[in-house]
Amino acid sequence: LQREFQHFMLKEIYEQPESIGRGVAQYVASLGSSAPSFHALPEANCFEEIQILACGTSLHAALVGQFVLEQVAQIPTRVRSASEFLAAPLPVTRQTLLIVVSQSGETADVLAAMRLANQQSSSGLAGFKVFAITNNSHSAIAQQADYERSVGAGVENSVAATKTFTAQLVLFYGLALAWGRQRDRIPDEQWVTWQSRMAALPSQVDQVLQQDDSIAAIARSLKHTNHIILLGTGINYPIALEGALKLKETTYTHAEGYAAGEFLHGSIALLDHTIPTIALCPTPPFRSDPSLENPPSEGGDQMLKVTQRIRRNGSDVIAIGGSEAAIALPLCDQLLSPFLTVIPLQLLAYHLAIARNIEVDRPRNITKSLNSF
Ligand code: F6R
Repeated sequence: LQREFQHFMLKEIYEQPESIGRGVAQYVASLGSSAPSFHALPEANCFEEIQILACGTSLHAALVGQFVLEQVAQIPTRVRSASEFLAAPLPVTRQTLLIVVSQSGETADVLAAMRLANQQSSSGLAGFKVFAITNNSHSAIAQQADYERSVGAGVENSVAATKTFTAQLVLFYGLALAWGRQRDRIPDEQWVTWQSRMAALPSQVDQVLQQDDSIAAIARSLKHTNHIILLGTGINYPIALEGALKLKETTYTHAEGYAAGEFLHGSIALLDHTIPTIALCPTPPFRSDPSLENPPSEGGDQMLKVTQRIRRNGSDVIAIGGSEAAIALPLCDQLLSPFLTVIPLQLLAYHLAIARNIEVDRPRNITKSLNSF
């Protein structure tokens, strides 16, 4: 049954099972077969380190990408916002692969950062290459790079990026798996597990979307809330940042994302009973899957300690996943959990904007593509 959506943002959130499935078919399922998705991309032995530059939501996708490139493919990876790169460029070498990520492919700071990196490398770094990840192969950023791939999410109309974020994640996982395989970091059994876990993502995302009504009720309960804290650990720390960005841009609520443990070092003083905390606690009982050789995870215990302390102090905790979940998540591996934890945050931002009568597809002061100032 075709559902009618009143806003692009909600429609695009709901398109994610399909767009993630398309990306997995293109960039994961076809790996190792004769499909051309990764042909003519640099091989893992052509570079020793990766630098990634991006802005906003694309920067948060890059931070998740860094986690999988480092933990799965074991490639040293640095991430910087494109605007900060302009202020303090990272030194590039002939063994550097520079990845630029931009949904629109037109963001001015990313273009300027690419130019600066190219100037740095023009002094004899013949091996230095730029690889663009965009949602538009005809964009300036895609056209000016040595290599480019589109995340293939389809046109995104809402100013707030949703389906392009998860499509960027799929491409990063595909790259980490391809390069990890080339570097012999992913044995055959793990590879089979990865493929089947990623193939299951569309139906798992769908299960999260089915909780839309209860997420909308939570959003309505936050209608008069002025500040929201979001906590994540490990691979979900960037998701806490992304959730905070979605809330700020679409609902005008002051929201901040923190790494859970770090929140105790001073910032917890902010809390009182008027400030709720959203805690990302995927994969109860916080075990990682040994068959995927996850990095050791103390994240679950850490989150439990922090949320217990917050509750003791008299503040509300809204748990996403975990045993005390306000919003339950299907059981999944912690390395894949960002695909699931981000969905309730996107829906929460959408429904809170609606509760506040905000024109959600066109929030004030921002445009879809920041291609000039
Ligand atoms: C967030 C949002 C912005 C963009 C940022 C980068 O929902 O829309 O934060 O993510 O301006 O834009 P692109 O990815 O087009 O370079």
